[in-house]
Amino acid sequence: MAFRSPRAARVRPHAASAVPTEPDAPDPAEEAAPLRAPRHLGGEREPLLRIRGLRRSFQVSGEHLPVLVDCSMDVQRGEVVAVVGASGSGKSTLLNLLGLLDTANGGEHIFDGVDVTRLREGHRARLRNNGIGFVFQQFHLLERRTAMANVGVPMVLGGVPLMRRRAIARELLTSLGLGHRLHARPHQLSGGEQQRVALARAMCLDPSLILADEPTGALDAATSELIMDQLLEQARHRGAAVIVVTHEPNVASRADRTINIAEGRTY
Ligand SMILES: Nc1ncnc2c1ncn2[C@@H]1O[C@H](COP(=O)(O)OP(=O)(O)OP(=O)(O)O)[C@@H](O)[C@H]1O
Ligand SMILES: [Mg+2]
Repeated sequence: MAFRSPRAARVRPHAASAVPTEPDAPDPAEEAAPLRAPRHLGGEREPLLRIRGLRRSFQVSGEHLPVLVDCSMDVQRGEVVAVVGASGSGKSTLLNLLGLLDTANGGEHIFDGVDVTRLREGHRARLRNNGIGFVFQQFHLLERRTAMANVGVPMVLGGVPLMRRRAIARELLTSLGLGHRLHARPHQLSGGEQQRVALARAMCLDPSLILADEPTGALDAATSELIMDQLLEQARHRGAAVIVVTHEPNVASRADRTINIAEGRTY
């Protein structure tokens, strides 16, 4: 599918204007200490994402439930990685950590050169909104909003002006074959069309990482293939890395490599 380069047209909002209201006061330690790790260590290419020994446990009815005990991976810019594992093995828990929606109990977590374990919530929210796009099995679209408005949600949070938001949403939806459904609401769209709106929403701020949690789990095989085609085409076009959780061998086979997760460990 041919479309104009969105990167050329895209305005990445300035960090200072990315979130209209700053929920946290600046942390002097954050401001003083350099958060960015050195770009090149020993001549190696710095990965976009690096986790080492990441751990996450929950307290359930007073019991300690270790879900992730030792998760490690490096993901390069532009790489597509599938994460597979049994139901309940911790795939969504891991994705929530990688998406900065949740915080690990321990381990190393560097995203785009930033040690995210040291960030306050305001800074994490900015990094998450501008740097990471999410796609979920259940789409999570706002029912009362049009396709255009749904795509615009991260851009509102990112402080992108209205006309710019509209131009970007129109361009992305058109590139995904929804140029004729810009003003449709989610219930007026098929599952595959809703997932394409969610893809456009994930891409709108040109994230460097796209996290997809069973993005085709609610779709039939043909639609599933189309959605994966579009997800990977958009990601490659933008140079974004993709981490996709899936139970489907057809989806995993589209990735550059597969990471397994079992008993709280990646391998
Ligand atoms: N907030 C939480 N509080 C308590 N337990 C949790 C919490 N989040 C996840 N868990 C538990 O962690 C384990 C892993 O859950 P997770 O949702 O990550 O699995 P999953 O691999 O994504 O499974 P599925 O393939 O079914 O989506 C489960 O046993 C779940 O009950
Ligand atoms: Mg899950």
